[in-house]
Amino acid sequence: MSVQQTLVLIKPDGLAKSLTGNILTELSGTGLIVVGAKIVQVTRELAEEHYQHLREEKFFDELIRYIMGEFHVKRILALVYHGENAIASVREVVGATNPEQAHPSSIRGKFGRITTKGVFENVVHASENQKEAEREIKLWFRPHELIQAIYAVESKKVTKTESFWKDESKKK
Ligand code: CDP
Ligand code: MG
Repeated sequence: MSVQQTLVLIKPDGLAKSLTGNILTELSGTGLIVVGAKIVQVTRELAEEHYQHLREEKFFDELIRYIMGEFHVKRILALVYHGENAIASVREVVGATNPEQAHPSSIRGKFGRITTKGVFENVVHASENQKEAEREIKLWFRPHELIQAIYAVESKKVTKTESFWKDESKKK
């Protein structure tokens, strides 16, 4: 076993059903720590990149619309969990892909459903293996967004314009 990081997404159905608290509670049972978290509005580009390996599946278009929030709310909560054997530990608590086959005590077993169109609304995403975890964490997060990084980081000099809170204290 080794220290790993894994990507968890609370999908739009999870947010629409106000399940964030329940899901975080279930995941806290793993003893892992959260090293990154943010709300994301998923673009088609990001959705298609995330699920690139499923491009040929007949449910792909519905899946992209689902993760973009077209059936629920247009946001997801992205989290990175860190710790010993993180990938398998999280997958265990999350349960099987098909919510009808997921163990009733797992997150997907408790809260998931299959729509009449056959889309698995299974509430959360969790990385499947080390290769996918690395690819997904690097896709969803920049190094500075994680309080701890396990993948190599390099610095580059950039010139950019950033937003700041407007200083209105001097306004009369
Ligand atoms: O999410 P997981 O790694 O368990 O499964 P996947 O095979 O990587 O599929 C990604 C996502 O596609 C699932 O979580 C479901 O939301 C969706 N899916 C579906 O709607 N119907 C299927 N037969 C298989 C997957
Ligand atoms: Mg997967």
